[in-house]
Amino acid sequence: MVDASVAKRLVQVIIDNLPEPVPARRPVHTIGMGVKGKFVASDVARTYCIAEHFNGQPVDVSVRFSNGLGGLEQHDGWSDVRGMATRFHLSDGRGSDLIATTLGEFFVRNVEDFFEFAEVAKLERYRRRRWWLKLWDILRLKVPPRNPYPNETRNVDAGALCYANRHRFAQLGVFQVALIGAPESYARASYHAVHTFWVTGPDGTRRPVRFSWQPVAGVRNTDSKTVPRDKYLFEELKNRLRRWPARFMLMMTIGEAADALDDPTKPWPGTRIRVAMGTLTLTEVPEDQEAAGERISFNPCRLAPGIEVSGDPILEARLGAYEVSREMRGGCPLRWR
Ligand code: HEM
Repeated sequence: MVDASVAKRLVQVIIDNLPEPVPARRPVHTIGMGVKGKFVASDVARTYCIAEHFNGQPVDVSVRFSNGLGGLEQHDGWSDVRGMATRFHLSDGRGSDLIATTLGEFFVRNVEDFFEFAEVAKLERYRRRRWWLKLWDILRLKVPPRNPYPNETRNVDAGALCYANRHRFAQLGVFQVALIGAPESYARASYHAVHTFWVTGPDGTRRPVRFSWQPVAGVRNTDSKTVPRDKYLFEELKNRLRRWPARFMLMMTIGEAADALDDPTKPWPGTRIRVAMGTLTLTEVPEDQEAAGERISFNPCRLAPGIEVSGDPILEARLGAYEVSREMRGGCPLRWR
């Protein structure tokens, strides 16, 4: 586990980068909604992992969908990473969490990178970029910054693109962020946990794996050429669930010895074995969003026996950083294993 002072600094640099920090709320993924449902593991899941939620019995689940930006300005139609944090409620009252975003790879490898990134990627005032400069960017294989949305005064991408232009390892993640767009629905995006975890099977075999959620409704973004709508994601999901549940498949990719096991900036080859671990069925948006969406606190290292963290330094750092943030905003503790 990283030093407690490092965990505090990690949260503080995020807060320092916000134009308007919001007390008692998450410093990133500030706007979100809580949803309830059930997870049922597939028949094969238990042969790969002994964790309770993979034993085939239905498990209650709490999910928080979110927009990635920090702050209370809600522009659902803006291009932004979206989050899906999931708690599997286990029979002894404990939980196993899985935190994922629409980003396939992260943009930094370790804590030092993160601090440097935070220094470079501060929000900037928008400056319009002339067409010939954009053409010049494309010729040099650089992603040109996009035009601002109506009412958008600060540029969230410019600093990150500048960082990626200096660091090869950051390019995959940062370029994805720059082009990510806005989903039609929280239920029409795929979400990736980016880190490697180790799972243990009933015969004691340990495998390195990466998890992601695939929406059964399919992935669909809004039309990026029209003026983005302001607020629709909460109502859309609420109305959707009144008619029919929203489903996601939990996919688990199995890594091999040569794969990047401790580096969330590196993808694995597309030929790796993928196992369908189960289906999440979301049915309800609870009225009490303060409890379901705000006070609830997730941690990527809160894991059921049978799942372990890898040596990924970002994953290790998140253990303490999320606890610091939870305490700062008065989020609910959950019994720790
Ligand atoms: C060093 C790297 C990172 C730091 C310092 C960091 C920090 C934070 C903090 C402080 C929070 C608020 C936690 C709370 O108050 O409960 C948060 C939330 C979140 N983070 Fe990270 N994070 C990092 C990496 C990542 C990565 C790699 C992912 C992608 C899987 C991610 C996805 C999320 C999501 C989805 C949330 C919202 C969770 C919720 O709805 O409660 N973060 N992050």
